[in-house]
Amino acid sequence: MPKPSTAPLIEVSGLNVRFETPDGVVSAVNGLSLSLAPGRTLGIVGESGSGKSQSMLSLMGLLAANGRATGRAMFQGEDLLSLPVRRLNEIRGDRIAMIFQDPMTSLNPYLTVERQMTEVLEFHKGFSRADARKRSIEVLEKVRIPDAARRIRMYPHEFSGGMRQRIMIAMALLTEPDLLIADEPTTALDVTVQAQIVAMLRDLQRDFGTAIVMITHDLGVVAGLCDDVIVMYGGRIMEQGTAQDIFYRPTHPYTLGLLNAVPRLDHEGGALAAIPGTPPNMARLPSGCPFHARCPFADEQCANEMPPLVEVPATSVLRACHRDVAIVQSRGWGGAR
Ligand SMILES: Nc1ncnc2c1ncn2[C@@H]1O[C@H](COP(=O)(O)OP(=O)(O)OP(=O)(O)O)[C@@H](O)[C@H]1O
Ligand SMILES: [Mg+2]
Repeated sequence: MPKPSTAPLIEVSGLNVRFETPDGVVSAVNGLSLSLAPGRTLGIVGESGSGKSQSMLSLMGLLAANGRATGRAMFQGEDLLSLPVRRLNEIRGDRIAMIFQDPMTSLNPYLTVERQMTEVLEFHKGFSRADARKRSIEVLEKVRIPDAARRIRMYPHEFSGGMRQRIMIAMALLTEPDLLIADEPTTALDVTVQAQIVAMLRDLQRDFGTAIVMITHDLGVVAGLCDDVIVMYGGRIMEQGTAQDIFYRPTHPYTLGLLNAVPRLDHEGGALAAIPGTPPNMARLPSGCPFHARCPFADEQCANEMPPLVEVPATSVLRACHRDVAIVQSRGWGGAR
């Protein structure tokens, strides 16, 4: 079903995240811009350390004490990066919710699930305790917690890992947020549970109309859930397009490398071709394209000049690469040299 075009729910422009360390300044996110329409799902992929988590944590005011974000992040008419903490707290956990790989980072082990859930509704929505309890049970049922009316009285540790993940998602959706930021929410789960959670997020998104930013290593999760995809490396966007574009018509050598490393059913177990080499040191980013040292297509220009992120002609794909699209696509990852 084609979605009507609407004003963006969130519009990030020129986001930089820097960390002061004894080793120098870490440039974790470098000039990131993105926009997300209501109800859409954006996947953010890239290897470890590429700046996925810090870019989203910075929007929520959740950077470590040595971190600082600059740029703009307009959300429903307010710039998240310049809001007073009090206002940000109101938005966080109400209009924007975040879920993480480890549910225990969001759940308090010392409080029953009921107490944690009802508190959110009492604080953000002014619900009475009884109404909050009723609503909490409904949402637990939506994330398919069996016997929710009884189990709501239990503590987080009394649930299995997959169940805890569902409870965290239920907590996040309690206020029917407009935006859900999910940071690797399925990474620690086994494949079957992963698939159930992804299917559930899809259903919930349909019911609640929530926009989702899904940070993940897993391109399978992206394929199953996302409308649009951002591919990050060295704190920058390397390529951005629809999920279709990224999977079937990738234009950036880094995207080709990531796709080449995806486990496939026709591959013998474990024989994945990870991209050779390692990501750059973010405290000493190389000159030119951050990927050039590992890129089989790179030449001198790539080592010296940062490629700008520009539209690939006749598409809606954005790409930061000096090399010709046709050459990259026709040679592919393996045939570059
Ligand atoms: N408090 C900090 N001080 C210094 N550097 C930090 C700090 N927090 C994060 N970084 C650095 O910022 C960079 C980006 O980290 P980020 O957590 O966004 O990576 P990521 O893409 O989410 O990786 P992963 O897939 O492993 O979660 C990394 O180089 C990381 O080491
Ligand atoms: Mg991360």
